[in-house]
Amino acid sequence: MKILFLSPTGQPGGAEVALVDLLAGLRTAQPAWSLSLIAASDGPLLTRARALGVEASVVPFPGEVARLGEWSLGRARGSRLAFLLHLGGAAWPAWAYVRRLRARVRALAPDIVHTNGMKMHLLGAWVCPPRTALLWHLHDYVGPRRISARLLRACAGRCSAIVTNSRSVADDARRVCGKRLPVHPIWNAIDLDRFSPRGAVADLDALAGMPPATPGIVRVGLVATFARWKGHRIFLDALARLPGSVPWRGYVVGGPLYDTSGSQVTLEELRAHAAALGIGDRVGFTGFTDAAAAMRALDVVVHASTEPEPFGLVIAEAMASGRPVVVADAGGATELIAPGADALACPPGDPHLLASRIAALASDPALRRRLGEAGRLTAERAFARQRMAGAFAALYEQLRTQTHAAGQPG
Ligand code: GLC
Repeated sequence: MKILFLSPTGQPGGAEVALVDLLAGLRTAQPAWSLSLIAASDGPLLTRARALGVEASVVPFPGEVARLGEWSLGRARGSRLAFLLHLGGAAWPAWAYVRRLRARVRALAPDIVHTNGMKMHLLGAWVCPPRTALLWHLHDYVGPRRISARLLRACAGRCSAIVTNSRSVADDARRVCGKRLPVHPIWNAIDLDRFSPRGAVADLDALAGMPPATPGIVRVGLVATFARWKGHRIFLDALARLPGSVPWRGYVVGGPLYDTSGSQVTLEELRAHAAALGIGDRVGFTGFTDAAAAMRALDVVVHASTEPEPFGLVIAEAMASGRPVVVADAGGATELIAPGADALACPPGDPHLLASRIAALASDPALRRRLGEAGRLTAERAFARQRMAGAFAALYEQLRTQTHAAGQPG
């Protein structure tokens, strides 16, 4: 079996982190399979893939294609001419790219082309050789992105099957692409050895440049990139509403990942917000650091996305680390937890209720321990790499058989 993975980026966003866990799982489960990766930009994804024995290379997007996105096209849409010029300006470079990528794909002659991001889903439809199955792996909702949804629908005829990271994203994919295409929800996996209750513990105070916290303080943290919808402001609003009886310190772990301005919060903005709420000296900003060691340093992990979360790797990571997590209860995230048993749920965007959930955990060490232990058991059962790799391997086999049979004469 030869599988070629196509990624629009080499940067480690959620979709790329999930891909690395899939590659690691496949390596162990199917050591004889040949796995290759082509990404449109260099970055840690390629280093991690190579470390797993995956042949990884870069076929860089031309600037016009790299800059093309739902946001830039959406802005140009106000004027039909601007929209057409914007799209038209990218047409020739995109076509040249299709030809380059197609030549690389043909040379590799894979059985399966597995695409891991919107631009590669669309390009995959143009470059995938006739007797090769094309699998789209969707990590986000497409329905709300009108231009992407139209383009995806237009290319769906060439796709063999879709995998989504949750049932919620699967429902969205069916609405966008119609009933003909098989859609298989397969949850992501995480590294259960790395995200575990035991291991190195980060010194979050030092990382944030704060004096050491007094003993007995409850550490509450949001671990996320700086994408605006990850809910940093709601998190700070909730901290500011915690009752005075709770000794707490808050941590924002992570930073900006993407170049796109506007879609992300800035450190200055968050610091100013914390200061305006009167909690400036009780919240630390650590920047990016080893997420597993950071989780272990926290007593409570908060997931505060203000939009439905397609999956939410951080939720799975917190549970695997044996940490109680408060989950913004919408989208695929709701599928991952049993509220009250292995995590707490909270309606998204409500700082009052979020404060009450955090306070319940902060004031009750036994509840924290119970949820943390149950979370670890859930993670071992639901988020193991072997499970994800097994489900994908079965699907790859099925697609190869189908595509092969369709290519047989008579
Ligand atoms: C995307 C989704 C996120 C998910 C990740 C991995 O980043 O927004 O919810 O955890 O992909 O599938």
